[in-house]
Amino acid sequence: MSLSHEILQGKLARCFRFYRSVDSTNDLAKDWLLAGAPDGAAIIADEQRRGRGRQGRVWHSPPGVALALSVVLRPDEEDVALVNMIGALGVYDLVRQAGCDEAGIKWPNDVQVNGKKVSGVLTENVWESDRLLGVVLGIGVNVRVDFAGTDLHASAISLEDVTQAPLDRAELIRQLLRRIDCWRGKSAKEIFLAWRRRLNMLGKLVTVNGVQGLAEDVTPSGALKIKTDKAGALLVHAGDVFDASNTWSIE
Ligand code: BTN
Repeated sequence: MSLSHEILQGKLARCFRFYRSVDSTNDLAKDWLLAGAPDGAAIIADEQRRGRGRQGRVWHSPPGVALALSVVLRPDEEDVALVNMIGALGVYDLVRQAGCDEAGIKWPNDVQVNGKKVSGVLTENVWESDRLLGVVLGIGVNVRVDFAGTDLHASAISLEDVTQAPLDRAELIRQLLRRIDCWRGKSAKEIFLAWRRRLNMLGKLVTVNGVQGLAEDVTPSGALKIKTDKAGALLVHAGDVFDASNTWSIE
């Protein structure tokens, strides 16, 4: 099912811009934010040629098979950390609504289905000297991306691999934006607790940024607390976490 401005117009009661092909929706959203886009405005693309992921990685959004969108948000400065959580919670809800039961959030904000990544979230804060102008919440979802024969085959999945039925991307975008709006209406505490509940690494032995330890908890600012031994603990603010329970144990 194709995406177009007209199809989305019939579904979305919000300010949005649709593009057939862009380098990165986050870049266009940043430009729009600086030009005065209202809170909640969205940039949506059918294809990204240079999609960006966390930690400087590339994110693939080939035409016709994925969701690639970025939402301009203007939160209060103290709520910036919640944007990541809201993005992951919105996708988690979408994935569950699509019929994927085995879903979880891998810290900080990858949504996984059957232990494989179905979606990634990249938030970028836009500052003018020390004043926050806004945040771009970029979300990519694999709808029918074919990973067979690629390096990502073991770690990535598409929604249709699970549903085994065709999904309407315009409808998925409508549902996702609705879920994001819904989470934005909740308190910081509700958002944090819901995000924490859905994290699938807490209580596990993990490796993160080369450090091994127990993924003990998360903080309201979104950091991961790793217990390294009886005395030691460290807070990780960014990185990739891997399940290490099969490879070592903590005394
Ligand atoms: C990750 O590394 O997991 C984050 C991936 C984020 C990809 C999305 S797709 C829409 C938006 N535009 C980008 O260039 N990146 C984000």
